[in-house]
Amino acid sequence: MTIPCAVSVAAVMTAVCACSADVSTSSPDGNIKVGIMLDSCGTPVLSVAVSGKELISIESSGLEADEAVLSHGFSIADVSRSRTDLTWTQPWGENRTVRDNHRETAVLLTNPDGVRLTLRLRVFDDGLGFRYEYETGCDSLTVTAENTRFRFAEDGMSWSIPGNFETYELDTRELPVSMVETANTPFTFRIGDMYGSIHEAALYDFPEMNLYRCDSLSFRTELAPMPEGYKARVPGVFRTPWRSLQIAPDAVGLINSSLILNLNDPCAIEDVSWIQPQKYVGVWWGMHLGTHTWTCDSRHGATTENALRHIDFAAENNIEGVLFEGWNKGWESWGGRQHFNYIEPYPDFDLEMVAEYAAEKGVSLWMHNETGGSIFEYEAALDTAFAGYASLGVHVVKTGYAGGMPGNIRHHSQRAVQHYQKVVEAAAAHQIMLDVHEPIKETGIRRTWPNMMTREGAKGMEWNAWSAGNTSEYLCTIPFVRLLSGPMDYTPGIFDIYYETASSFPGREEWNGDNSQCYIKTTIARQIANWVILYSPLQMAADLIENYEGHPAFRFFRDFDADCDWSRALAGEIGDYIVVARRAGDRFFVGAGTDSEARTVTVSLDFLEPGVTYRADIYADEPEAPEVLQPDGTMAPDKRAFRIFSRTVTSSDSMDIRMAGDGGQAIVFSPDTPHAGTEADRI
Ligand code: NOJ
Ligand code: CA
Repeated sequence: MTIPCAVSVAAVMTAVCACSADVSTSSPDGNIKVGIMLDSCGTPVLSVAVSGKELISIESSGLEADEAVLSHGFSIADVSRSRTDLTWTQPWGENRTVRDNHRETAVLLTNPDGVRLTLRLRVFDDGLGFRYEYETGCDSLTVTAENTRFRFAEDGMSWSIPGNFETYELDTRELPVSMVETANTPFTFRIGDMYGSIHEAALYDFPEMNLYRCDSLSFRTELAPMPEGYKARVPGVFRTPWRSLQIAPDAVGLINSSLILNLNDPCAIEDVSWIQPQKYVGVWWGMHLGTHTWTCDSRHGATTENALRHIDFAAENNIEGVLFEGWNKGWESWGGRQHFNYIEPYPDFDLEMVAEYAAEKGVSLWMHNETGGSIFEYEAALDTAFAGYASLGVHVVKTGYAGGMPGNIRHHSQRAVQHYQKVVEAAAAHQIMLDVHEPIKETGIRRTWPNMMTREGAKGMEWNAWSAGNTSEYLCTIPFVRLLSGPMDYTPGIFDIYYETASSFPGREEWNGDNSQCYIKTTIARQIANWVILYSPLQMAADLIENYEGHPAFRFFRDFDADCDWSRALAGEIGDYIVVARRAGDRFFVGAGTDSEARTVTVSLDFLEPGVTYRADIYADEPEAPEVLQPDGTMAPDKRAFRIFSRTVTSSDSMDIRMAGDGGQAIVFSPDTPHAGTEADRI
C-alpha cells in the first residue's frame, strides 16, 4: 500500500525554532568534543572542537526527497546515549584485533511533516561518524539531494582527487582547502597542527558522496546521480552510510586509525576459514606493455603453456596464487558493445588441465572477469560462473569494470553500488574472495564481507605502462588518502624499471602518444618497499616472471607474508615520505619510501619483540648509483641500483633508513642467531 505523503512547504516555513538544545558528546579521552544544536531552521549542526579548538562545523541537514520533508523544521524529541569499549577480531587486516572505543549519542528529531530522523553520532579518540536514520511514513522515497555541509574553521592544506562519479584513477592534488572546487573522498587535510580526513563508511544501496565547494571554507555533499537525475530510491524507513571524519595529531595517525572499520557492522559470513590473504603473480603486465594480448592471437598471454610456467614459478617461490587475464572468450568485443563469456575459455587455454595442475602444485588459481561495465550481463552470469569456478577449486576472482555501464549508469551511482554488493554476496555464497578493479570506493565493508579483499580505485601500476604514470610523490600521498579507505590492489613490484617501450608491438601505438615517458619513476628498492607500504591482503608481484627469475632482490617477495596481523605507520608526511611496519607471525616487515628528495629517516625499533635478537635483511638504494640516460632523455641515477645487506638488531636499537631521491627501503626482521652482519650481496 502506498501512503500518500505530500511535501508541506508551509510546515517547513513555520517550523522555525520549534525547539533548540545543545547536546554535546566527547571522545573517550575527552580530546574531541562534538556539540549538537538546532539552528534557526530546525536543522541540526555538529560543531567539532579538538583540544578545545574549533576544527569544523557540520550542518547535518540530511536529505531532500520528492515525497517528504527530510531536512527542516526539526525539534528534538529525545536524546539517548551509550558507551562502547570492546575489542573485535577479523580474519585478516592490517591488525588482527581492533579496539572499538566510542561514545554514542542518538538524537531523535521530529518535524511537523511526521518525519522522525535519528541523527546517530559516534565519537572515538580518532574521529567521529554520524548518519541519518529516517522513519518517514512513506513506502518509498526518491532522494534528490543530500545537504550535509562541512565548514572548516580556518584554511589549511588538503590532499585529494577531484570529484568524479565514474573513476578514481586520477592524480592526487595538494591544494589549500579554499582552492578545492570538488573532491572525492577520502578528503585529507591539515588545519593548523591537526590532521583530518572526511570519508564515508558502510556504503550500501546508496550513491557515493563527493564534496562540492559552497563558499571559501565550506563544502556540501553531492551524491552520484542516476541517469534519470534523482540520486537514490530508498524505502520509507532507511539509513544512510556514515559520514566520517578522522582526526589525528600527526599524518601517520590517520593511517593508524580503525575508524572506518569500527563504523561498519560485524562479519556477516559464518565460516571464514576459506578467506585467506595471498601473494600472487599473473599473466598481466605483458598485456599492459603490449608484449602480450588478452585476445586469442599470436601474442596471447593466457595460453596453457604460459599458465603452467606461472604455476611452476609460484610453487617454487612461496607464492600462493596466479592470475590469468584473457583466458575467456569475449575480449575482441572489449571497448565496443562488449560481451564477455565468463565460462568458456579460449581454445589455447585448457582450463581443466590448468586447474588440475594448480591443485597438484598447491597453487591457487585466480579467474579474471573483465565486464567492460556490462553489469546486467554480469549479474545474469554470476551464479553459474561462480559455481563453475568453485567446482574447479577456485577461491579468488578479479573483476573489472573498464568501460561505460549501460544506459549512462555511473560507476559510483546507487545502481552500481547495488551491483558491486550483489557480486560480493554471490561470491561469498560460493566461497570466493574478490579483487575488484574500477570498483566503488572502499568504505570498510570488508569488516562485514571479508571476502571483499582488495580493490583498485586509484591510479595503479598499469598507468606506468601506457602513460607518464605515477611519481614517487604520488606514492607518498596515496597512503594518506586512498588507502585510508582500505586495501588497494596497486599491483606493485616492477623490477625491469626501464622496460622496453613497446611501440614496436602492433597496436601499442594507439594506446598512448609518447612512450618515452613510460618507465618506472622510482628505484627498485622502493618497488620492493611498496609491497609493505601499499597494504593489500592479496599482494601482487606485478612484473613478468622472467624479470624475477634469478634476481637477488626477489628474495624479499619470497620471504614476504601478505597475511600480517599487526601494522603501524611509524613516520611520514603527506606527499613527502612514509615508513610502515607490519608483523606476520614472529617476523616483521618495514617499507619506507620518499618523494624526489633523498632522505634519511631514523626510526626506533621498539615495535620488535623485547629480548629477541633479529636478523634484519635490508633492501636499500645504492648510494653510489651511476647516472644513466633515462628513456625520456634526462640523466639521473640508475634506478636499478640497489644493495642488500644484513644487520643484527634488537628492540632497543634505532635504524637510519637512507633513501635516494624517488627511492625507498624494505627490511625483513627474522628472529635469528646473529648473522655475519655485513653486506651479503651488492649489485
Ligand atoms: C583495468 C584493470 O585495472 C587492469 O588490472 C586489467 O588488466 C584491465 N582493466 C583489463 O581488464
Ligand atoms: Ca584500472
